[in-house]
Amino acid sequence: MHFAPSETPEIVYCRNERFRLMIPNEVIQRRITEIGRDIDEVYKDKNPIFIGLLNGSFIFMADLIRNVTIDCEMDFIKLSSYGAEKISSGQVTEKKGLDAKIAGRHVVVVEDIVDTGLSMRYILDQMSHHKPASVKVVTLLHKPEATRENVPLDWVGFAIENKFVLGYGLDYGQLGRNLAAIYVLDEEN
Ligand code: PRP
Repeated sequence: MHFAPSETPEIVYCRNERFRLMIPNEVIQRRITEIGRDIDEVYKDKNPIFIGLLNGSFIFMADLIRNVTIDCEMDFIKLSSYGAEKISSGQVTEKKGLDAKIAGRHVVVVEDIVDTGLSMRYILDQMSHHKPASVKVVTLLHKPEATRENVPLDWVGFAIENKFVLGYGLDYGQLGRNLAAIYVLDEEN
């Protein structure tokens, strides 16, 4: 079902926890349009490859890519560090590696969220072994207070406070990815 802006629920429940609206979908879309235009400009005359980190980035990747008009390719990697919990396990596990050859290519890594930065550090280290021409990072969300790794973020959709967020691809125990907006755990309840 499509929610018009005025119909976006302010409060949702996921696994019996209460979440409140943080970033409505139309605000996300406006920001993605800006980032898409910028990426077009940076990579004009190039053919970059966008590499999304599954599962969380699939919705952001789908919307971002439709705001990019230059020739581009895409692939996905699947990592996991959270399991069913709300905090990172600190252990990054690779569940699906890269199919595309990235040697000599311009790579754009697409993330839904950079939290501790461990996933991004892991993937940037892995990629560096394949000798890409360049690597840039776009993340929809960044939690600066939580980030422990020094990872270069070339485009950040929204810098947010260090709270658990849900929706627009981000899950809580695999649920909630299908919410159109981004919600934050309501710790007052
Ligand atoms: C989440 C998110 C990022 C990562 C960020 O993935 O999608 O990939 O954690 O956290 P970090 O900066 O602390 O590493 P998760 O492991 O939950 O898997 P998912 O994408 O399948 O939800």
